[in-house]
Amino acid sequence: MESFINERDFFRGNNPETIAEEYGTPLYVYNEEIIRKQMDNVAKVITKYPYTANYSVKANTNIHILKLALEEGNNCDAMSPGEISMLLKAGFPKERIFYIPNNVSEEEMKYAVDLGIMTSLDSLSQLEMFGEINPGGKCAVRINPGVGAGHHDKVITAGKKTKFGIAEEDIPEIFKITEKYNLTIAGINQHIGSLFMDPEPYLQAVSNLLRIAMRFENLEFIDFGGGYGIPYHKLEGEAEYDMESFKKRLEPILDKFVEEYGSAPLFKSEPGRYCVAEGGVILGRVHSVKQNAGRKYVGTDVGMNVLVRPSMYDSWHDIEVIRDGKVVPRENTETVTVTGNICESGDIIANDRELPVIKKGDLACILDAGAYGYSMSSSYNSRPRPAEVMVCKDGTVKLIRRRETIEDLFEFM
Ligand code: LLP
Repeated sequence: MESFINERDFFRGNNPETIAEEYGTPLYVYNEEIIRKQMDNVAKVITKYPYTANYSVKANTNIHILKLALEEGNNCDAMSPGEISMLLKAGFPKERIFYIPNNVSEEEMKYAVDLGIMTSLDSLSQLEMFGEINPGGKCAVRINPGVGAGHHDKVITAGKKTKFGIAEEDIPEIFKITEKYNLTIAGINQHIGSLFMDPEPYLQAVSNLLRIAMRFENLEFIDFGGGYGIPYHKLEGEAEYDMESFKKRLEPILDKFVEEYGSAPLFKSEPGRYCVAEGGVILGRVHSVKQNAGRKYVGTDVGMNVLVRPSMYDSWHDIEVIRDGKVVPRENTETVTVTGNICESGDIIANDRELPVIKKGDLACILDAGAYGYSMSSSYNSRPRPAEVMVCKDGTVKLIRRRETIEDLFEFM
């Protein structure tokens, strides 16, 4: 693909230079239509049985994006009282929120219990805590299906080396605790990790979870977790996650289970990245271009405080160069290292990347930044967090979060 921005008409006819001048840089820009389309795609993964796609809001909690999920009919998973509050504020009824926390205090757990939000417990000790807080209550348990997958060790959340979930061999202990506190296990869930393009490990984990599900009676729901990937190397031709062939392989596994179990519970999944990653980019301004020991550095205002994924996981984000409001064709290229403005040598967005020759004043447009971008941003080096705008379906550009100011940084002191 020569240019994602042009092919998808990402800015819907708006000039990105004008947007950058009006709202400043660094700037998160979202495309409403792309996000809605992705949310709709995942809502159709299972059509034969009752199913909901729970948008995993940790990927992006901007309230305007949560409202898109609400309108598209997605439910949501939340992992903290903050995320639950955002969802309530966006208008989600509590029945459409699934709380999947990890290592929380009694106070946090009580917050969800008091609101009557379905909660998943991911260890025996948290299940015990739930029993103490809410004897006679209903909950879910997060199972480790023994298979993990993901783009980096740091985001694999099942298998042998993980803090998440209850191991299969501990299932008898679950029943002891549920009996002790008269709890009902309404559902079981898993999440094996984040970003896979090959569905094999996920399908294996689904089979494992369904085998384990046979040990639980009268389950109301079974949740297979998120993790569907998006092509971060799209400019090099990487293809989209093949949802159609995934669906075809998933269905017979579900058929077999439903037959053996005698009924179909509500099936769920929890896509985060898939819903929002491609619908967001960052516009950053190039403030310097320099040579250092034979290497060319392009210095932008997109620091690791704005987008931490490359520094944290060595993640790849495609970059398009914009000059005078237009994408610069990838003809006259050179190898450069694109960096931010943070006081760390690891503050690098792209290492030794082949890009069109960049000049000071250009815009660097960082693709696929809609997921785990703003939600993982910080004010490190006392740099206020960026603003976020949405390019709406009708082509208007709407400010959906104002830029933080230096005064905001004083707020809590
Ligand atoms: N469900 C649970 C319980 C999760 O922990 C996660 C993500 C998801 C669903 C959604 O996964 P997704 O569909 O987005 O892959 N910061 C990392 C990703 C961490 C994911 C954490 N959990 C990154 O930037 O790649």
